[in-house]
Amino acid sequence: MSGTRRTGIAARLLVAMVVVLASATLVAWAVASVVGPALFHQHMTAAHHGPGTAVEHAELAFSSASTVTLAAALGAAAVTALLASTVLARRIGTSLGALSAAAGQVAAGRFDIRLDRPAAGSEFDDLADAFNAMAERLRRDDEQRRRLMSDVAHELRTPVATIVAYVDALEDGVQELDPRTVDVLRAQASRLTRLSTDLAAVAHAEGGGLVLDRRPVAAGDLVAAAVAGVQARAAENGVEVEARVPAGLPPVVVDVDRVGQVLANLLDNAVRHTAPRGRVVVTAEAAPLGVRLRVDDDGEGIAPEHVPHVFERFYRVDTARDRSHGGSGIGLAVVKALTEAHGGRAGVSSDGPGRGARFWVDLPADR
Ligand SMILES: Nc1ncnc2c1ncn2[C@@H]1O[C@H](COP(=O)(O)OP(=O)(O)OP(=O)(O)O)[C@@H](O)[C@H]1O
Ligand SMILES: [Mg+2]
Repeated sequence: MSGTRRTGIAARLLVAMVVVLASATLVAWAVASVVGPALFHQHMTAAHHGPGTAVEHAELAFSSASTVTLAAALGAAAVTALLASTVLARRIGTSLGALSAAAGQVAAGRFDIRLDRPAAGSEFDDLADAFNAMAERLRRDDEQRRRLMSDVAHELRTPVATIVAYVDALEDGVQELDPRTVDVLRAQASRLTRLSTDLAAVAHAEGGGLVLDRRPVAAGDLVAAAVAGVQARAAENGVEVEARVPAGLPPVVVDVDRVGQVLANLLDNAVRHTAPRGRVVVTAEAAPLGVRLRVDDDGEGIAPEHVPHVFERFYRVDTARDRSHGGSGIGLAVVKALTEAHGGRAGVSSDGPGRGARFWVDLPADR
């Protein structure tokens, strides 16, 4: 907002009324002081020389002086009122016209339209600001939608192309339906399935259409279940996974399955980005919002320029390598969307490449 004093419509209307009143008063005073004495003088001279009593002439003088004064004051008030309302109406009309033209443009899909602040009262400035904020939001949503469409198309292309190539080769007899081929086909198909379930989860959670089955549950139980789920794969990669849950934490009030998915995604990443003999620690601790669940690893870490983006849909730090691991860059978008659907927050920090990463989610607790 600008530092200048802002005048509202009420103040402007009041000023217009005062101007009308003042002009009427001024004119009345001027006319009364100029015309009144002259009329009285005329009538009094007539009373002296002609017919009629002095009282009759005084009454006549009084009534014509008041009529002339009143008529002049009314005339001045009418003219000023006409001028003031024309000026006000023109200002308001121009502002509303610009607003409705801009709204029409936005409705037609032009989200880059912005309104100038009209000089017609602070309410109109606020309206222009709100309109511009709305247009900006729509522009960003539209851009995000376009990007999402192209990302989804891009993600679908690779597995579908692989499946088509294998089916063609099978049909031509170039390839045999051996266990390896079946594995490849199954892996690509399950990648597609996971992509669609992940996208549906994000869309649901972000659109507010996700129905959460919330109940109080001990953070320790959530952590234990998640660690058990990743243990086999961690052992395969030679990564140690440890849970640290202190006693005395309040139970979190969450949808157990959804938070299970959040932790599974975080642990999946941590194990995947940690070298053999590395270590992943899952911690629960008290936080201002309730309870913070943290997944720390001492793996490859994340460069500072990537840190702010890793929660974005389809964002991968090392595109080629992460993709070859079957990652679509959706896992953390799911984490963020599901956590926020609980009214919680998700975050990340890393000291840089080679120095591990620390992901956390804050969840509401039952105090
Ligand atoms: N613990 C971690 N250490 C280092 N980098 C990480 C870690 N977790 C995530 N990242 C980086 O963030 C990117 C986004 O992670 P995200 O989980 O969203 O996608 P993904 O793991 O590539 O794919 P998906 O989870 O959909 O299978 C990853 O590609 C990876 O580069
Ligand atoms: Mg992931």
